[in-house]
This record gives sequence, structure tokens and C-alpha cells, in this order.
Amino acid sequence: MSKGPSIKALGIESSCDDTSVAIVRYKPGETPKVLALVVQNQSTLHEQYGGIVPEIAARAHSDRLDSCTLEVLKKAQLTLTDLDCIAVTAGPGLIGGVISGVSFAKGLAAGSNLPLIGVNHLAAHALTARMTHKVAFPYLCLLVSGGHCQFLTVKAPDKFIRLGGTIDDAPGEAFDKTARQLGLAQPGGPSIEKMAVSGNSTKYAFPRPLKNQQGCNLSFSGLKTSLLRAKEKIIAKEGSISSTRMADLCASFQRAASESLSLKSQVALDTFAKQLGQKPTLFTLSGGVAANQVIRKDVQKICDEENIPFYAPPLEYCTDNGAMIAWAGIEKYRLNQFDGFDLQARSRWPLDTTSSPILGGGKRGAKS
Ligand code: KG4
Ligand code: ZN
Repeated sequence: MSKGPSIKALGIESSCDDTSVAIVRYKPGETPKVLALVVQNQSTLHEQYGGIVPEIAARAHSDRLDSCTLEVLKKAQLTLTDLDCIAVTAGPGLIGGVISGVSFAKGLAAGSNLPLIGVNHLAAHALTARMTHKVAFPYLCLLVSGGHCQFLTVKAPDKFIRLGGTIDDAPGEAFDKTARQLGLAQPGGPSIEKMAVSGNSTKYAFPRPLKNQQGCNLSFSGLKTSLLRAKEKIIAKEGSISSTRMADLCASFQRAASESLSLKSQVALDTFAKQLGQKPTLFTLSGGVAANQVIRKDVQKICDEENIPFYAPPLEYCTDNGAMIAWAGIEKYRLNQFDGFDLQARSRWPLDTTSSPILGGGKRGAKS
């Protein structure tokens, strides 16, 4: 089916607030190459509402997908006829946006006579390490962003075990809501990390929820509430929050979030070894929160102690992007897993159908 030994896939992502299209090329024996990537973030459209408005997101995706596609083709100096397949996020995510992407992809595939491949967005995040780094199965992925938080055993491009995840907010969501409470700019993660640099991370004793519970589920909503209470106490006592107090709050919050993630990373590594009878070939971090240097360092420390290689892909491929969708499409192409025009957009699409759903799941819906 391929036009030669290489596979060139167009990847379309529209499941949340990033409209993104990319072209990725796979050649046997070579590191996969992202030939072009376009990402159009919608944050300015949603800013005034204090969160993502699904209807606005879906319309913006519809408006932008064709220009993004023309732009990547131009950047890669290719036409549709040079490609081998059209890959698209078919879920999980905000359903209006997913429908926009799937409908657009069907039109492109029909018009160009290229095979259509529906990609699971979570699988794409988990497989990204294989696009940017040589990684053999089975490995462990911690996906941490504004909408996701899960530990995944990756056994094959289509075989995942979910070891655990958040029972309420995603970590990025907790950073964003906390930053809002403190009057810091959005997205909250980078603002809190910056403010935390000069702070004392042991000043406030914030909780590490579920620390003493078995398994690797996580919780972040209590942490967010503890910070709010601490802030109220400071205001009641001192009238306002000085920059020193602000830095201490941020540093203590970040430390608690990072410790929760690294503690459960240890549990996930142990669970992986128990279930598979071997260590993972690698521990990979993915999602926007992977940008946080303290979190990276803490998780890396756990991996170093266990002698397991740690790897976080470059940030542009950690956050939502079309390249990871194109790559996941290539993985499916190589397994001959194609879709027909009956491909459905799905708001929920669990990667691991054998593990029971985790309740809650954050502002962008329970994606587990
Ligand atoms: O993967 P992403 O771009 O989008 C989705 O959520 O799908 O992740 C964005 C999230 C935001 O919540 C943002 O605050 C968080 O990642 N983030 C960070 C940092 N940079 C981005 N969180 C903590 N520390 C950071 N440096
Ligand atoms: Zn994502």
C-alpha cells in the first residue's frame, strides 16, 4: 500500500484547544522525521470565559483546519498525492472538536483517495517517545497535562495497561486553578514554576493525597484547596500576600505536586515489574506538565535509583500536536489498521478496556 519503503502521514489534532496538523515520515532504519508541524492555540479565544468553551473550540477547529493543512503541505513542499495516509484524532476529547477533525479528515481522505486512520489521542501521547527517541517495548509512560494524568504500560502500539491516574483534577489543571487563585498569569504551570524559584518549598505543609493508599492513583484537588486555605490565613493575619509569601506558597505547592507524582512513579515502576516480570526499557514523561524542571528532576531521580532510563520528548511534541497523531497513524499503518468512512468521533475512548474507569478526571472530562 505504501508508495515506497517510507511512509508519510498527515496527522490532524483537534481534541482540545490546539488545532494542529503535521507531516511525519518513517523510513525503515532511520529516526522518524517531522517534515512540518503547525500548531494554532486557541487560548486567546477562551481567555475571557476562564476555561475552554467547547462550542467555540469546535468552530475554531473547523475554521482553521484547512489553512493549517495547506500550511504544512507548503512547509514540507509536498502535495496530498505524495502522502500515504491521513491520520486523525478520533477521541477521546471534547466531542465537537473531535467531530470537526474527523469530518475534515474524511473529506481529505475521500478527495485524495488516501487511507484514513483514526488515532486514540492518549495512545499518540504515549507513543511519542518512539518518534523522537529509539524506544523498544515494553516501557512506562506518565502522561501529565492540563487534561490528562495516567500511568501507562506500553506493550505495543495497540496494547496498553493503565496502571493508575488522577481521581479528580489533572496536575496541569491544578497548577492553572492555583495560579488563578494567586492572581498569576495563565497557563498557571510556568507562572508557578517561575515564582517558586525564590520560594521556600518547606514553608507550608501541603498534603500528598493518596500517598498511603495502595496503587498509583493520584489526586490533586485537595492540594489546590489546601493552598487556598493557606492563602486565606495569610491574608487574615497579614492583610495581603507579600512576594516572599507568594513565592513560598508556589514552591510548597510545586513540591507537593512533584512529590505526589514521583512517589506514585515509584509505585508504577514496581507494579510494572510485578505485572510483566521485567523492568521497563524506559520511563517517559509526556504532556505539558513535563516542562516542569522540578517534576522532571524528581521523576528522573526515581528512575536513576532504579537504573531505568528516563526520557521526556522535546516540549513541542509533549503538548498536543499533529506530529504525535501522524506518528501514531504510522504505527497503525505498519500494523495494517485502517478505518473506513464509518469512523466515529468519540468523547471517551479508554486505552485499556480491561481496567475499571477512574472517577472524575478533570476539566476536560474523564479521558481515561
Ligand atoms: O499538554 P498541554 O499543552 O495541553 C493539555 O492540557 O492538553 O498541557 C498544558 C498544561 C497546562 O495546564 C499548563 O499549566 C501545564 O501544562 N504546564 C506546566 C508547565 N508548563 C505547562 N505545569 C507545570 N509546570 C510547567 N512548567
Ligand atoms: Zn493531550
